[in-house]
Amino acid sequence: MHSRRTLLYVPGDDRHKIEKALTLNVDCICMDMEDGVAPSRKPEALACIVAALQELDFGQSEKLVRINPVGSGLEADELAAVLPAHPDGIVIPKVENARQVAWVNEQIESVELAHGWPLHSIRLIVDVETARGILNLNEIASQPRLDAIIFGAEDFAADIGAMRTPEAWEVFHARSAVVIAAAAYGLQAIDMVSIDFKDIEKLRAESRFGAQLGYSGKQVIHPNQVAPVQEAFSPDQAAIEHAQRIVASFEASLKEGKGAYALDGNKMIDMPLVKAARAVLLRANAAKKKL
Ligand code: COA
Ligand code: MG
Repeated sequence: MHSRRTLLYVPGDDRHKIEKALTLNVDCICMDMEDGVAPSRKPEALACIVAALQELDFGQSEKLVRINPVGSGLEADELAAVLPAHPDGIVIPKVENARQVAWVNEQIESVELAHGWPLHSIRLIVDVETARGILNLNEIASQPRLDAIIFGAEDFAADIGAMRTPEAWEVFHARSAVVIAAAAYGLQAIDMVSIDFKDIEKLRAESRFGAQLGYSGKQVIHPNQVAPVQEAFSPDQAAIEHAQRIVASFEASLKEGKGAYALDGNKMIDMPLVKAARAVLLRANAAKKKL
């Protein structure tokens, strides 16, 4: 079981924002070299990220680096510069097939071996955000070293020619497919960005829906989004108490030799509900440790 992941993007060429991110108590800080950085600023972003990895203390926040897509021509030099500074993980954008993931895995493994670091001490996360990526989720999700799959709604909508709406039904199928692929391979799923960063009510509703779909975290782009998202992906007190009651009453019913029983006389409880309740308690514990 993975803990919650709220993933804050920070443009890699902006040292002020990187330092600001360190003060936010966010689960993950993802220093970006892809779409958050202008093409003319990519070399500055690479240099700034390497310096940040070497000089700054990220505390409890996971330090991630998003490279440019495999095939962009930038990825090999970026990995060669960033990996020796040992980030906690690499994020690959616009992943469409297993070969791209396997190639990055090989680059990471050779640096781990060269430095004598434990194998798999650097994690791998993929952004799936194109039609081809969604169609190939099965082969992508089965790759070794992978830890999580991120769903990119804006790129996906642009790729399939969908028009974005506040309800986001146009990306629903892909959004849900990412959770299913992640679950099938024991990975974490990280939900789409809410780009209207001033609209915190919309962010809360979108986060709640993502959590209901099975996501265990969400991408964010602004400091004001961190707390609402971390809250939405941590079970609240009522959910914890309900889960505790299910687990306790199930154990009592098993002692009576019953696999299914009625809670409060009107709700059927059996194994799937108990599994879900145990997952809530695990998530609550993980969230508590982070605070
Ligand atoms: N990470 C860390 N700090 C951030 C931040 C981020 N993603 N976004 C804003 N901040 C900081 C600002 O630097 C500012 O700091 P200050 O008060 O010390 O000056 C403070 O938070 C308030 O920011 P604000 O003025 O409201 O926003 P802005 O106009 O500076 O930036 C964006 C707005 C959208 C450009 C900015 O949030 C951003 O760059 N987000 C990430 C974009 C990105 O990486 N996209 C690619 C992935 S989808
Ligand atoms: Mg994207």
